Amino acid sequence: MTTSTYSQLFSPVRLKGRELANRAVLAPMTRVSGTAEGHATAAMRDYYRDFAAGGFATLITEGIYTDEAYSQGYRNQPGLANDAQRDSWRPVVEAVHEQGGMFIAQLMHGGAQTQGNRFRDDTAGPSAVAPKGEQLGFYGGQGPYRVPREMSEADIEAVIAGFVDAARRAREAGFDGVELHAANGYLLDQFLSTGFNRRRDRWGGSVEGRLALPRAVIRAVRDAVGEDFLVGIRLSQVKVTDPDYRWAGLDEADALLRGVAEEALDYVHLSDIDARAPAFEGTEQSLAALARERVGVPVIANGNLGDPALAEAVLTAGEADLVAVGKLALANRDWPRRVREGLPLTAMDFAMLAPHANLATEAQWRERNGVSANHTDTRETAAPA
Ligand SMILES: Cc1cc2nc3c(=O)[nH]c(=O)nc-3n(C[C@H](O)[C@H](O)[C@H](O)COP(=O)(O)O)c2cc1C
Repeated sequence: MTTSTYSQLFSPVRLKGRELANRAVLAPMTRVSGTAEGHATAAMRDYYRDFAAGGFATLITEGIYTDEAYSQGYRNQPGLANDAQRDSWRPVVEAVHEQGGMFIAQLMHGGAQTQGNRFRDDTAGPSAVAPKGEQLGFYGGQGPYRVPREMSEADIEAVIAGFVDAARRAREAGFDGVELHAANGYLLDQFLSTGFNRRRDRWGGSVEGRLALPRAVIRAVRDAVGEDFLVGIRLSQVKVTDPDYRWAGLDEADALLRGVAEEALDYVHLSDIDARAPAFEGTEQSLAALARERVGVPVIANGNLGDPALAEAVLTAGEADLVAVGKLALANRDWPRRVREGLPLTAMDFAMLAPHANLATEAQWRERNGVSANHTDTRETAAPA
């Protein structure tokens, strides 16, 4: 394959006045590799630097927790909940910038899906509804999820303030923007979803009520960080704890997508298991395509686009402006460069994340299997995907 085969993927794109060299985005991926205090580490710096050096024009961090109350989802998750955590991100941001990457911090509140929080023993969410299934072993959890406490008005105000303060710290640490994590069943998505949100007050009920918290967070964050800092949002139907959850249909999709887009967002990021599949019964369109018709800002599509031909097809069809790559990027930190140069891709092996999805486990896997993260490493022996 030659570069021209992927002419869309490697064409420049503008995102809020910035010119990006290509449309490849590193998808946010939790690596539970921070210190116990939630600080970013030197290993994390090298990890993120590799993706920028490997050609990703845009990188989104793993979900970062926002406050010292109910937001932390996992032990060893990094935070932006205090100034020491902020300072720990500075070398990571510098390393990515040195390689020319744009770096966006994903801000995440775990809510009911929290399974490891050093600040609280209980969990809190929109309603007292336990997530389905069992906690995620590869993020250090075990057994059923706890039943969360229904958040009070004061809790909700604290959530908004947490996102605002974390966004400010992201800007102070040098990040180019923040992505508000309203996907995969975490707190903002819990508020959007009838499965989690049974409230009858102004934060629930109708679609407008369910949108109220995500919209309040976008507004407050935008007010705090100003116009020149990127603010995006990530949405999905599927949840970590409920992969079958779907929006109620086109009317709800319309209301949710237009609802968030009424706020001052710079992009909308849609994640699905397969970014090209119809979003739900009753439409032929993918989630990204539905969004692109409705939101009026650039759309990032994500889900099973690690095969560059599929990524190119989504861009060529006009379903998205950028594509985010997750698992294939874990296996190939230099995915864009390999694709561009026609080099083989290493297949994703979930053993890389077992028993823990952290960088130490990955390093052991690479050592054991003699597979480098970067094609330029001399010990490259990767088999084609
Ligand atoms: C190890 C791992 C950690 C993830 N952590 C996050 C996260 O912190 N935030 C998020 O929005 N999505 C997270 N995801 C989902 C990915 O961003 C992406 O949506 C998913 O892997 C599908 O894209 P892919 O088919 O390219 O892998 C994670 C996925 C994996 C495999």
